[in-house]
Amino acid sequence: MALVTTTEMLKKAYEGGYAIGAFNINNMEIIQGIIRACKAQNSAVILQVSKGALKYIGRDYLKPMVMAAIAETGMDVALHLDHGSDLETIKEAIECGCTSVMFDGSHYDFETNIAKTKEVVEYAHARGVVVEAELGRLAGVEDDVNVSKEDATYTDPDEALEFVKRTGADSLAIAIGTSHGAYKFKGEAKLDFKRLETITKKLEEAGFKNYPIVLHGASSVDVKSVEICNEFGASISGAKGMPVEMLRHAASLAVCKINIDTDLRLAMTAGIRKHLAENPKDFDPRGYLGNARTYLQEIVEAKIIHALGSVNSMQ
Ligand code: G3H
Ligand code: 13P
Ligand code: ZN
Repeated sequence: MALVTTTEMLKKAYEGGYAIGAFNINNMEIIQGIIRACKAQNSAVILQVSKGALKYIGRDYLKPMVMAAIAETGMDVALHLDHGSDLETIKEAIECGCTSVMFDGSHYDFETNIAKTKEVVEYAHARGVVVEAELGRLAGVEDDVNVSKEDATYTDPDEALEFVKRTGADSLAIAIGTSHGAYKFKGEAKLDFKRLETITKKLEEAGFKNYPIVLHGASSVDVKSVEICNEFGASISGAKGMPVEMLRHAASLAVCKINIDTDLRLAMTAGIRKHLAENPKDFDPRGYLGNARTYLQEIVEAKIIHALGSVNSMQ
């Protein structure tokens, strides 16, 4: 039971045909809901913080809260920086206890992304920290998307191989149709599995055996959570996420880490709204936050079972 890096987790996930959930954390109740779900399902887990989450939680709170989760459950936990935008943020995250960092240079041109990612890899590796990089830009897939637009934003397989070779990044986030937030698809959901398989094949042929691929923007936008939110005062319409079966299929291929934030936000909001609406006299935060934490745990357990396939992956 310790704070660990993601290396072993991702390796086992690849070999086992499942993915580890990388859940975004923003406060104590979210950490507890996630960690209790993982404990209940005996699932390996990555807790991740964005730069904004680190600022919100506070540098001095982050690691002690994660260590408390480890002590409560007796589980190994990896702490990961999500979407690090520059070396300063990477350095801060490592100082705050992150064992894994993402450098997101996906908005830079190819050469700049390589140069900046390499710099991060050198810095992080020298400190025993692993690096996730990103190539390709996540975008929503709409019915009228045309091929050239698709090719312009999706990860190019040849570039992916060159990128991995030249940067030394430990894992790669790719764009194959997912997008961040609650509005991922209009019409039918599509994921470019062929592209994923081509990227994997090229990596394998070049000697990168079992190289872990990461999927961002992978919330399913759980219908029940949206319904509860709307029933109790929210106005969330037209939201649509990644179908669970598509995530499970991706996890059976080279996708070893699946990022989930939106579903946690929806679960917290649904739990809080429902509790307050049904208990109008209640103004004790332990009531509504506790309710939200329990509901979030349910959502995470369902995800572990149906989307990630990571039940019993914790040794
Ligand atoms: O992909 C981004 C995550 O959902 C984190 O979002 O920067 O608002 O914390 P945030
Ligand atoms: P969602 O918005 O689909 O939850 O994606 C989260 C994510 O990719 C965090 O990096
Ligand atoms: Zn992301």
